[in-house]
Amino acid sequence: MGKQLVVLVSGTGSNLQALLDHPALGGQVARVVSDRPAAGGLDRARARGVDAVTVASADHPDRATWEAALATAVAEAAPDLVVLAGFMRILSARFVARWPILNVHPSLLPAFPGARAVGDALDWGVKVSGVTVHLVDEQVDHGPIVAQEAVPVLPDDTPESLHARIQRVEHRLLPECVALFCHDRIAVDGRYVRILP
Ligand code: GRF
Repeated sequence: MGKQLVVLVSGTGSNLQALLDHPALGGQVARVVSDRPAAGGLDRARARGVDAVTVASADHPDRATWEAALATAVAEAAPDLVVLAGFMRILSARFVARWPILNVHPSLLPAFPGARAVGDALDWGVKVSGVTVHLVDEQVDHGPIVAQEAVPVLPDDTPESLHARIQRVEHRLLPECVALFCHDRIAVDGRYVRILP
């Protein structure tokens, strides 16, 4: 049957779509959870018959209560792996210790962590940025790196044009990494990730 996946989204969900479309993921997206009811990722999930729920912070009195509700929504699907596909909230150490979690980030970490990675890379004047897929630990955009791929920055790039070029790579790299996990090919030793044959 393969691994059970839960995907967390906040936005349009194009990375979720890439996971849903991948022919040989080795697992299935059992549930999609969003912190925003308007997230396009929810519609993409429902269009494919995947259970999709919202756990909005506005519906909870504080951060801890919201995160506990999020954890319950994730746990109900009993995932082997949680994937952050454009999920824009920071998760506590307690949450991230509970499941293996992969995140896709639009820069070559450790350069340009945070929510403005594409704009920050352009502002810095780098000639190359890229994509990082990493395991999530208790620090933001910090955990062991599974895969990275460079994306050139062109002289007339805007944040939108660079992000579009980066996303084309994300849509290939994230499913590849999820497939590696689903086929038990990821071995973690401290910060170092080895890809097993
Ligand atoms: C991606 O660029 C990802 O790297 C970042 O948020 C964006 C999400 O895009 N964390 P989408 O919602 O998957 O289209």
